[in-house]
Amino acid sequence: MKALVLSGGAGTRLRPFSYSMPKQLIPIVNKPVLEYALENIAALGVTEVGLIVGDRADQITEALGDGSRFGVRITAIHQDEPRGLAQCVELARTFLGDEDFVMYLGDNMLPDGIAGIAEEFRAHRPAAQIVVSKVPDPRAFGVAELDADGAVVALEEKPRNPRSDLAMIGVYFFTSAVHRAVRAIEPSARGELEITDAIQWLLDHGHEVKAGEYSGYWKDTGRADDVLECNRHLLATLVPRVDGQVDAASELVGPVVVEAGARVFRSRIVGPVVIGADTLVEDSRIGPDTSVGRDCVLRSTRLTDSIVMAGASITHVPGLHGSLIGRSARIGPSDHAEAHSRLVVGDHTHVEVAA
Ligand code: DAU
Repeated sequence: MKALVLSGGAGTRLRPFSYSMPKQLIPIVNKPVLEYALENIAALGVTEVGLIVGDRADQITEALGDGSRFGVRITAIHQDEPRGLAQCVELARTFLGDEDFVMYLGDNMLPDGIAGIAEEFRAHRPAAQIVVSKVPDPRAFGVAELDADGAVVALEEKPRNPRSDLAMIGVYFFTSAVHRAVRAIEPSARGELEITDAIQWLLDHGHEVKAGEYSGYWKDTGRADDVLECNRHLLATLVPRVDGQVDAASELVGPVVVEAGARVFRSRIVGPVVIGADTLVEDSRIGPDTSVGRDCVLRSTRLTDSIVMAGASITHVPGLHGSLIGRSARIGPSDHAEAHSRLVVGDHTHVEVAA
């Protein structure tokens, strides 16, 4: 079995981050989303991974290397424009050959793994094995309608009037039958070749499509709130460890990780919190539910329920909550004497100030 990981796409819902970085590299507990995907794939014993990349290919390649760190071999497959998940399968035709494969959306988080789904697929080898999960608002997803016995009746991508509350999770297992399906379908109203339509084509043409409800935790990290929620979820099982320096005037409460080279002075850290390598924390109160990346500086700051990415600096900010701070961002008091704020923020940035 091979794997096809989708890491192209536009990521418009994660702007402004997606202007400068692929959304699949957003860190959850200081590890890019895409790394969790590769770990889950490697855990199946799959070693050949095709990776669909768009115009941010260089950053993805730099982050993952050749895959040997995860025990897999990565073949990058370039997609010039995001023309849909089914188009990714077409692009990967040569790489995949006629082998069975798992297709994994690079922005989906399944920290409990996909071994159970793989086992079900391997036992029956249906043309497509999909996974569904109940969501409060299915309109943002592919939606599956199942009959009383759990057999798939119909699938619809982002329906206005969903016929069930079962969203399709971004992990699919296929036999080579899917290649005929992706060639047969037409682009959807949004101009994309939808994998949902390809699976519906398989159903319509008498192929077996199986669905199982996922019992673990699943999150599509397409929006900032989902990223933060997923971060909280993973932090909940954090195992405390201090490899950096914490002075006697500081207090660590609950599960806290202080990575090597990090320094914590005169601060109170309330876990779960991760302080990344070589980060400096001074006179601050951090946590709970916060991940701080490497090489950051936090001074006289109070920060809860947030993600701070590598190289950011935050000084003299007394109440930051529910925030996603990008790489090398600088937040702090004005250099000018007047009591005003000065913002240099990119397009589609979201700033909420305390009234
Ligand atoms: O997260 C589950 C949902 O993912 C499913 O319920 C939907 O049926 C499925 O269509 C998909 O919907 P999204 O709108 O969330 O897909 P998104 O555009 O975010 O793309 C998913 C991943 O695939 C993401 O890592 C980007 C990548 N991608 C996407 C497109 C459209 C590509 O690599 N190339 C593409 O052309």
